[in-house]
Amino acid sequence: MNNEKILYKKIIPNVEKEYNKKYFSFFYTRLGRNYDELCKKFLSIYGENEKVEESFVELILSLAELYKDRPNELRLLDVKREQDKKWFLDPKWVGTMLYVDRYNKDLKGFLEKVDYLEELGVNYVHLMPLLKMPKGENDGGYAVSDYRAVDEKFGSMKDIENISKLFRKKDMLLELDLVLNHTSHEHEWAKKALEGKKEYQDMYYMYDTREIPDKFEESLPEVFPETAPGNFTYRAEINKWVFTVFNTYQWDLNYTNPKVFIEMCKILLNLANKGIDILRLDAVAFMWKKLGTSSQNLQEAHILLQLFKLCSKIVAPGVLFKAEAIVQPEEIVKYLGNDGVEECEIAYNASYMVYLWDAMATGNKKILENGLEHIPRLPKGTTWINYIRCHDDIGLGYADRDIISAGYSPFDHKQFVISYYTGEYADSHATGDRFMYNPKTKDARITGSTASLLGLEKGINNAQEDIIERAIRKILLMHSGIMSFGGIPLVYYGDELASLNDYSFLSDDTKKNDNRWLNRPVIDWEKANNRKVEGTIENIVFTSIQKMIKVRRSLKEFQGENDFELVKNESDYIFSFLRKLDDSKTLVLMNMSNKTQYISQYIIEKTGFTSKIYDRYTEKDIEIINRKIEIKPYEFLWIGEK
Ligand code: GLC
Ligand code: GLC
Repeated sequence: MNNEKILYKKIIPNVEKEYNKKYFSFFYTRLGRNYDELCKKFLSIYGENEKVEESFVELILSLAELYKDRPNELRLLDVKREQDKKWFLDPKWVGTMLYVDRYNKDLKGFLEKVDYLEELGVNYVHLMPLLKMPKGENDGGYAVSDYRAVDEKFGSMKDIENISKLFRKKDMLLELDLVLNHTSHEHEWAKKALEGKKEYQDMYYMYDTREIPDKFEESLPEVFPETAPGNFTYRAEINKWVFTVFNTYQWDLNYTNPKVFIEMCKILLNLANKGIDILRLDAVAFMWKKLGTSSQNLQEAHILLQLFKLCSKIVAPGVLFKAEAIVQPEEIVKYLGNDGVEECEIAYNASYMVYLWDAMATGNKKILENGLEHIPRLPKGTTWINYIRCHDDIGLGYADRDIISAGYSPFDHKQFVISYYTGEYADSHATGDRFMYNPKTKDARITGSTASLLGLEKGINNAQEDIIERAIRKILLMHSGIMSFGGIPLVYYGDELASLNDYSFLSDDTKKNDNRWLNRPVIDWEKANNRKVEGTIENIVFTSIQKMIKVRRSLKEFQGENDFELVKNESDYIFSFLRKLDDSKTLVLMNMSNKTQYISQYIIEKTGFTSKIYDRYTEKDIEIINRKIEIKPYEFLWIGEK
């Protein structure tokens, strides 16, 4: 393939004659800037394909077409964001995520609750899957039947455009999912494949016999071993085995076929053109398959993401990608690109999340601190999403190394954490459940809401004031952990009201086999009003999180790419780190234990504080008695100087 010849003979003449319009120079400039890299990467994946040249031209012409469709308002925003590439790293951004139907019925209902989010201080909203999905089981919408239509139970694409317009006016950000790895079995491509059309069968991985599937199975793990064992599903209509890593109705897309990449790229940019600021790219670790491997985190999956990024930089450079790759700590960070190679700008800090849960079970900081020491730092220009809970399970995905260095045995320790959060462990007040229990290995992940996992449900059910009080302290401590750490905090919907587990899924046939629904609450707005009633649990939790958000916003050192500095200290219970930028700094101390702890004043001197110190959160002075600072059970301090 001759890159230059294609550009001058096939691309430019087509693009020029049709789109010689205002703003088009931006497209040209960006195409020019990214063309060589795009060619190179496209060839590295599709170079062997007989239609590579034709496909490449089709891709570029589609980009021009999509740029033509991009509303002017968004084109101008792109230019603004290109000039200030760090715009999303401002400490003002605070996220949430929610299911539109479980929040307030539908998209119109959601609009009525935007002022509630503003009251809390949230300005970055991830609306959970809402594109057309199968009526019965659909993995909470992560099985998409049409990427260009909103499912009618939520509303329409027009509603999304209206929300995005309102958000721009209010300086809020809108995030939607883009499920890149698979479509639902009801997607048009899947239906045509089931009718026997070869062209569409080629968009998925399909096999006539078990020979290749069996070979794959030798090295593939299972994501849902209890409910969807194996990675292939037999479809009698076509007498073929379909690659289905997740559920049987989620068909993995075949990215070795350039048509799949081009179509998904068009889908991505079509969503961008509706005014979405951030696309959450779902299950990206699984996008490339190779025999003899786990088919996760393969180099080709990264190149595909880099290609998507290049295309988006040409058409919609203001749009960010968030990687959903819940994998080992050193693998996650690779999704943020490196050395000038751009991939996603944001990734879930799943490692920090699980370390925090670990600390709440053990009551010490050992694994949390050891683990953080080993994970690679954020590349510049990228950031983490720091979260405690989300719609999924908590997988104990830390390295054995971290557990061993804390003096525990990996197997026993994980069994302890599981039994702690299911409430089986003697001292535990947690109410959670096992997800995808594997009887052979005894391995499991954990489900349950923040509040229930931290003991609130048991405290309320047993009317035990001390347990309730302790749970509230833990809830706030965990939120302090995400509000002050390097990255953007995400408050999971309902957590600001201390929502308990939701058991209603048990009586719904399409949900009862998936206990992740425990932590996907239906918001009770009546109860939410308690946030205004002094002394209620809702009031304490809501106003405390609101306050943390307010303080966070006022501190430039909480900027998103400005990483944390771990500050080691003599205590096994006090987790501490410093955030520092120019002349401003905050030292965070978190007592992970149920006892009052003391820490030497040396930590203050060591981190360079010279004048009077105070807690930025409570605004109270910090007393130093006998050269020690006292920290109550599960208390946190955000130390600053006056
Ligand atoms: C992601 C989603 C999860 C879903 C899976 C398959 O991990 O977060 O909810 O089950 O992808 O799409
Ligand atoms: C994704 C995540 C995994 C999670 C699963 C289902 O594959 O990587 O951690 O358990 O989705 O929720």
